[in-house]
Amino acid sequence: MRGSFITFEGGEGSGKSTQVALLADRLRLRGIEVVTTREPGGSPGAEAMRLLLLNGVIKPLGPTAETMIFAAARDDHVQTTIAPALARGAWVICDRFLDSTRIYQGVLGNVDRRIIRALERATVGDAMPGLTFVLDVPVEVGFARVSDRGQIKDRFESEEIEFHIQLREAFLDLARDEPKRCVVIDASQSPEAVATRIWLAVVERLLKPRTTKTAPRAAS
Ligand code: TYD
Repeated sequence: MRGSFITFEGGEGSGKSTQVALLADRLRLRGIEVVTTREPGGSPGAEAMRLLLLNGVIKPLGPTAETMIFAAARDDHVQTTIAPALARGAWVICDRFLDSTRIYQGVLGNVDRRIIRALERATVGDAMPGLTFVLDVPVEVGFARVSDRGQIKDRFESEEIEFHIQLREAFLDLARDEPKRCVVIDASQSPEAVATRIWLAVVERLLKPRTTKTAPRAAS
């Protein structure tokens, strides 16, 4: 049996981590084993690489090298956390995954698409997400949320506003290109309203088909 793999993507302050936790709670109430994780990170080796990626140590090496470190982190994460969980039938919910590389390094960093796709093949294999939520918020709303948190900005959060406008557009384009996998959610609403939209999509796309498939045949 194989579990379902769901990823959350979006810009800064889109509320991904809150929604990951809310969705996991709802699935667990249904008796489903859920593993929540994040990228970069999600395994001891990948968390070590996360520190280097987010504190800016890797940036001077250039976007291609940075992409390779993201890929190395993903490789460890898939092998040690995601693939074993899916194989035992657990559901995995991940805060950012391969689409972040496609957008941050590919679209915004101008890293050759062929390099990105080759690294995807090498690291993701068949651990491809079945459902990806793109949480969409206007840039000003996302920024206000992040600055309310009063956190020190990481290497990506310190980029100019224009970068974040392009980021939003790029995520929306990606979702338009892959409508079977990606669902865009208006994340400017309250966390509860966003969670409800997400839950309806999970039921529609992942829970309903399973229920239909496994439902016992009515006696004739
Ligand atoms: P994080 O602190 O997890 O921020 P967020 O709350 O925005 O998810 O930082 C992750 C940062 O790393 C984020 O700015 C996006 C960036 N990133 C990439 O550039 N490429 C990638 O492949 C991944 C997974 C993340």
